[in-house]
Amino acid sequence: MPAQLIDGVALSKSLRAEIGARAAALAGAGRRPGLAVILVGDDPASAVYVRNKVKACEECGFHSVLEKYEATLPEADLLARIAALNADPAIHGILVQMPVPRHIDPHKVIEAIATAKDVDGFSVHSAGSLMSGLPGLRPATPYGCMKLIESTGVALKGKRAVVIGRSNTVGKPMAMLLLQANATVTVCHSATPDIAAHTRHADVVVVAVGRRNTLTADMVKPGAVIIDVGMNRDDEGKLCGDVDFPALREALGDSGRITPVPGGVGPMTITMLLANTLQAAEVVR
Ligand code: GUN
Repeated sequence: MPAQLIDGVALSKSLRAEIGARAAALAGAGRRPGLAVILVGDDPASAVYVRNKVKACEECGFHSVLEKYEATLPEADLLARIAALNADPAIHGILVQMPVPRHIDPHKVIEAIATAKDVDGFSVHSAGSLMSGLPGLRPATPYGCMKLIESTGVALKGKRAVVIGRSNTVGKPMAMLLLQANATVTVCHSATPDIAAHTRHADVVVVAVGRRNTLTADMVKPGAVIIDVGMNRDDEGKLCGDVDFPALREALGDSGRITPVPGGVGPMTITMLLANTLQAAEVVR
């Protein structure tokens, strides 16, 4: 029997219903959660992502603003917009869609966002809070992966977890969240000589590389939980993740769990952005 699917669409739906209810309660108290999304330039993929973020906000009853700027927007002007949004009491979360054009320093942009409004969780302060085990806003994708793992009922305490990928946005915060949940965590990356030697013993594997077939059937233990963060296209142009899904699903057996692509991590990323914006709005300052 193949591994059971971890359904990110269903989990997103139930979480968004809960977020919507809490947002309505806040709105009733005069504190409707508000998210500002800034897009600089005309990258078509980024345009789709920001549209989906704003749409999800509206569906949950949030206030949302989308600010779009030409690719030539001076860095100083972007920083000035962020400063204005930092001071806007109707805005609880600020997100500048990445990547920004080359003349803009993404680090400067991220650090310009007020810590309390850093719903991407990308700032040095947010990353440091996670590292130190302090409360704060967590990057949406790894936060969503944690919710997906939790939904399986598999307890992470004492388990072996392997993260493949070491990006600041997914791999590194993912490892910290797993560590916080008392897993024994290994981070593999492009310079790891034998990734399979690690994944074969893992109870949980999170793959966030951006290359299909990074994790294959011979690399996993039956019964493991596999979280696939990848978003790639196969030879037919069909959306696929970082794992060899059909073969892996068989190899894991019926006690294994695996996220599909699409329908796994993808929907959870926006859901956790909404959760972060709600959390930012719920904090009374
Ligand atoms: N570009 C791709 N993913 C993200 C994300 O999660 N946040 C931001 N700000 N930009 C992105």
